[in-house]
Amino acid sequence: MRGAGALLVLLFCLSGTWAQGQSGGVRENDITLQGHSEQGESSNNGGSDIWAQLKALRDKVQSMGTILVEQRVEMRYMGNRLTASESQVEELKRDNAALETRLSVSERLGEELKRDNAAQAAALSAMGARVTASESQVEVLKTENAAQAAELSALGSQVEELKRENTDRPKVAFSAGLTNSGKVGPFNTETQLIYTKVFTNVGNTYNPNTGIFTAPVRGVYYFRFSMVSYETALLGGLNMYRNGQIILHNGQFYNAGNEYVCNGVTLHLQKGDTVHMRLPNGWAVYDDDSNHSTFSGFLLFPM
Ligand SMILES: *[C@@H]1O[C@H](CO)[C@@H](O)[C@H](O)[C@H]1NC(C)=O
Repeated sequence: MRGAGALLVLLFCLSGTWAQGQSGGVRENDITLQGHSEQGESSNNGGSDIWAQLKALRDKVQSMGTILVEQRVEMRYMGNRLTASESQVEELKRDNAALETRLSVSERLGEELKRDNAAQAAALSAMGARVTASESQVEVLKTENAAQAAELSALGSQVEELKRENTDRPKVAFSAGLTNSGKVGPFNTETQLIYTKVFTNVGNTYNPNTGIFTAPVRGVYYFRFSMVSYETALLGGLNMYRNGQIILHNGQFYNAGNEYVCNGVTLHLQKGDTVHMRLPNGWAVYDDDSNHSTFSGFLLFPM
């Protein structure tokens, strides 16, 4: 720009000096750019070449001035654009700084998340191990439970069986006194004793009409008796029978009144076996409403 301006000034100076030198009396005003060159041309035929050259030069200078003006406008415009670009660059720098800040924050967050992730993974793995352990414990407990359930069921059926046994278990117990009418015997033959005063007869296994007990089930039974003498100088006693077989024979000589003979025995009986008392031939037994002479028995247990 500055160079171009200097060139223009130089051109004006040169043209002025040169024109003065060639035309002698021609004033500087006559060759100014605004001057009337037609007059000069027509009045100075000798310098027409120079005038033409000057005119061309002037036109050139004029067009260069125009170009310079245009360039100045262009440069102003470019300057404006440069300023705008610079402020855009500043803006972009600021944006960049903001983005960098955000990026570093994001990176920090990323690191934090990584750490959190690792911690969570570790916790998950620990929980997984615990779950596995619990599951195997559950399996063990299930097995134990199943075994206990089986045991319980077995116990339950045992209880049921025991209940049934208890319910079905025959209840057998009897006790009876001989008579209220005093002395029985002596007879010429061994005689069946019929205890007519029934105290107890659970299960109705004792027959007070025959004096015979009949076992309702196979099992172990206990029997006992008592008898008393009353009159002196009599043989007192009795025999116990299972079916037709004598089990025991107990007795004494009556030297005085109220002497007792008592005994008991445990017998393993088959179902339908009978037990009863007999008065030996020639012997006697006594009883009255004091119930001296009794016959009793009960089932200990079936088997
Ligand atoms: C003898 O047995 C009968 C029948 O159980 C009873 O009523 C009576 O009181 C008994 N006699 C004595 C003296 O205990």
